[in-house]
Amino acid sequence: MDRPSGKLAVLALGFLVLAVALPASAGSVEDNYRLHCVQCHGGKGNGEGINNTYGGLSVGPRNHTDPAEMSKLTDDEIRRAILEGGDAVNKSELMPRWDKTLTANEVDELVAYLRKLCKCKGPN
Ligand code: HEC
Repeated sequence: MDRPSGKLAVLALGFLVLAVALPASAGSVEDNYRLHCVQCHGGKGNGEGINNTYGGLSVGPRNHTDPAEMSKLTDDEIRRAILEGGDAVNKSELMPRWDKTLTANEVDELVAYLRKLCKCKGPN
C-alpha cells in the first residue's frame, strides 16, 4: 500500500508548486515592463527598444532613464499615458494604451518603477 499514497504525495506537491508559482508569473512590475514595454522603450528603459532600431519609430519612445525628460511629467500624466495611450496626453499614438491589458494597480506599480529608472520625481 505504499504506492498510492506516494502518488498522492507527488500530486499534492504538484499543486503546491503551482500555487506558489502562479502569483509570481501573474506579473511582477519587472515582468510587466519586460513583457509590454521593452520592445519600444528598451531593456534598459532608455528608449532604444528593438522597434526603434535605427530610429524605426517616427517618434522616439520616451527615455525612462532620463531625469530631465521624466521630471517634466507628473505621476498622473504618466499614469494616464500608460492607461489611455499617447493620444490621451497629446503625445504620439505610437504609445499604445494599456487599460485593457493591465490593472490600475499594475499601472501604479509601473509609475513607481519608472520613477526608479529615472531616479527622479515629477513636478507635482
Ligand atoms: C509600440 C511602442 C511602445 C510600447 C510597446 C510602449 N510605448 Fe511608451 N511610448 C512610445 C512612444 C513612441 C512614446 C513617445 C510619445 C511622444 O513623445 O509623443 C512613448 C511614451 C511613453 C511615456 C511618456 C508619455 C508622455 O506624456 O510623455 C510613458 C510614461 C510611457 N511611454 C510608458 C510606457 C509603458 C509603461 C509601457 C509598457 C506598459 C509602454 N510605454 C509601451 C512607444 C511605446
